[in-house]
Amino acid sequence: MVAHDISKAVRRLDAVSKSEGSVKYIADYGFEDCLWGRLVRSSIPRGIIKDIKLPEMPDGYRFITYKDIPDGGHNYLHMIATDWKCFAENDVRYVGETIGIIVGPDRTIVEDLREKIVIEYEEQEPAVSIDDGLACKGGAFINDDNIHCHLKLEVGNVDEAFRKADRIVEETIETGFQEHVYLETNGACCMPDGDGYKIYASAQCPFYIRKSIAPLLNIDPSKISVQQTTTGGAFGGKEHFPDVVCGPLLLAAYVMKKGVKMIFDREEDIENSVKRHPSKTVFRTGLDKDGNIVAMDSKVYYNVGGYLSSSFVVLQRGCFHVTGCYEFPNMRTEGFGVATNTYPSCAFRGFGAPQTLFAVETHMCHIAEMQGLDPLEYKKRYFIKQGGTTSTNGKIVEKVMIPEMLDQVLKASDYERKAKEYKWGSGKGIGISFYNHGGAFTGNGEQAIIKGRAKLHKFKDGTVEILCSQTEMGQGFHTILPKIAAHILEIPIEKVIFKDPDTSRVPDSGPTAASRSTMIVGELVERAATLMKPRYDKEEEFEVETQYEHPDGYPWDQSTFQGYAYLGYGWGVCAVEVEVDPCTGEVTTKGVWSSHDCGHLIDEMIVHGQVNGGVLQGIGWASTEVLKNVGGHFKQTSMSDYIVPTSMDCPKQGVSFVENPYEWGPFGAKGMGELVFNGSGAAYIDALSRAIGKRITAIPVPTEDVMGYMLNGKDLKEAL
Ligand code: MTE
Ligand code: MOS
Repeated sequence: MVAHDISKAVRRLDAVSKSEGSVKYIADYGFEDCLWGRLVRSSIPRGIIKDIKLPEMPDGYRFITYKDIPDGGHNYLHMIATDWKCFAENDVRYVGETIGIIVGPDRTIVEDLREKIVIEYEEQEPAVSIDDGLACKGGAFINDDNIHCHLKLEVGNVDEAFRKADRIVEETIETGFQEHVYLETNGACCMPDGDGYKIYASAQCPFYIRKSIAPLLNIDPSKISVQQTTTGGAFGGKEHFPDVVCGPLLLAAYVMKKGVKMIFDREEDIENSVKRHPSKTVFRTGLDKDGNIVAMDSKVYYNVGGYLSSSFVVLQRGCFHVTGCYEFPNMRTEGFGVATNTYPSCAFRGFGAPQTLFAVETHMCHIAEMQGLDPLEYKKRYFIKQGGTTSTNGKIVEKVMIPEMLDQVLKASDYERKAKEYKWGSGKGIGISFYNHGGAFTGNGEQAIIKGRAKLHKFKDGTVEILCSQTEMGQGFHTILPKIAAHILEIPIEKVIFKDPDTSRVPDSGPTAASRSTMIVGELVERAATLMKPRYDKEEEFEVETQYEHPDGYPWDQSTFQGYAYLGYGWGVCAVEVEVDPCTGEVTTKGVWSSHDCGHLIDEMIVHGQVNGGVLQGIGWASTEVLKNVGGHFKQTSMSDYIVPTSMDCPKQGVSFVENPYEWGPFGAKGMGELVFNGSGAAYIDALSRAIGKRITAIPVPTEDVMGYMLNGKDLKEAL
């Protein structure tokens, strides 16, 4: 394919307004006429609510609970599953569970009243960790085994292969909670509007909000219109979570017949919002007498928290990615979503894939190292290729350019020299990881569930407005889409309008999630612009609408999870170099180099920005971002104790790409917003473990833990 100059960077359309501060975030609106709301939440992880003692309420102030839901309304939030209650009724399942909302005109008085509410509980013993959940600590509260959801996949015949194997090695890899740390905390406002409601919210998926909360009042979702406000970052944390904010606001607006607004402060947001699922992957891997893998079996456990909500889909993606960029002759995986008394886990950049990708990468390193082999040489034996069989018995449709990407990273990082020179345990280490990310919704989800639609509206003066529900949350999409339309129509980008979506005026093009915006909605707009072009020069006003069409010949069965889970993957190779201070254990990241296959790039600078941010966020997950939950309470609740890496913690990244256009994407582009997160953590840990010569099987590993590994860790060469 000829390199289109669509890749050439343009100035982002939101660059000036965001950098000069003129853009309005939810907290800037004022909504002067509206009441303030503040959630009253459970302070215990598990128990029965015995009594709620309210202080005397001044006029105009009210405490609203599930009891205020009108007849016919339902006390749940519809986030894929419908089990997450909008308000706790008799029992609470986690710290931070919404019990009610207190509303009134003055924010300080609302806060004051909230502090005076006394809730008496009969406390029960909580299950906090995956192990607690599995052991049914305090008694099972989901089914009789605390398993919210479960799935199993098999390719080939694992039991048969194990019987023939020379030996079977076992290893457990664990990953922790992660907080999204979007720059802007959650906030929304809901007001009565005619015979319906109007919501303003910092959110990724305005149509999700409508659908999720409308059952509270038993109204049609179309009675609620949701206007997305400029969103200061989301990373999956505003995919379903805004429903938890907007549900109580909707009920409050209904009861008070007035608008109600709520803005979280940072600590409130960290303590009381969804997180990345902690995980535990237990491998049993069969090796032949030469140390080759004949079968890999895994059990994948995700800590789902108190409610299932969207977690089954997260677990599915985790299991689909458990073989990473490899093809093993036989594989099996079983996934379990474990119920615990922690805040329900939810979407976070990578949507379940980073956990298993980290696990398989790390496990592969350890199998190699115990044999005295360089992990890279060992991994090379198993790279999946075009036509290779995936974990769901589908095939890889596209060309896999891992060899080319690896070549770029090896050259840029001088890996081969360093890997030889830096002896294990020398204090210097270089690591490398391989990863992918299935683009868009799994299987036929785009076709069967989302059915995304987008419109282009041409005005007489030649301006063209894009109408779809995709949101800008920092990833650059509000520049990408106008660029695609302008490019096809051959008009200046200034002639294209693209506003933050309002569900009352845009078609539902689906959520801004699963890195789907460019590859799916970008294609809808590319196609609409192509249809518009022949009529563009006429002085008329008209619209063109397109809808997603799935290519034939790639079957998927959502009941058995068999077939083509993804038509296109983003692919990545990342190398990280570290140096460890032998006296303090302090780790310095000396270099980070990556190469990605995102199809054809729509805008080099935007994609580059995604790489820089995603790679660093992945290193943070593996290193500094410690988020412990003790007894049901998150211990890190502010930016001074939850440590995200900054640009000061990382040298300039070496960034490169390969050109591998995706057949069905706009200009050949594929999803990449999550991909860039998926592998840097494994590369960092590979580098760190080589530098200290010790095996690491759980992340995060903050500097303060490194000395412990140096003194007590297992040697890399020890048998598994
Ligand atoms: N980049 C920025 N700056 N801010 C974000 O919130 N979210 C990530 C990724 N990149 C995010 C981001 C997540 S979780 C997803 S799913 C994709 O962007 C979604 O956007 P896309 O569909 O345009 O890739
Ligand atoms: Mo991204 S985790 O799919 O919002």
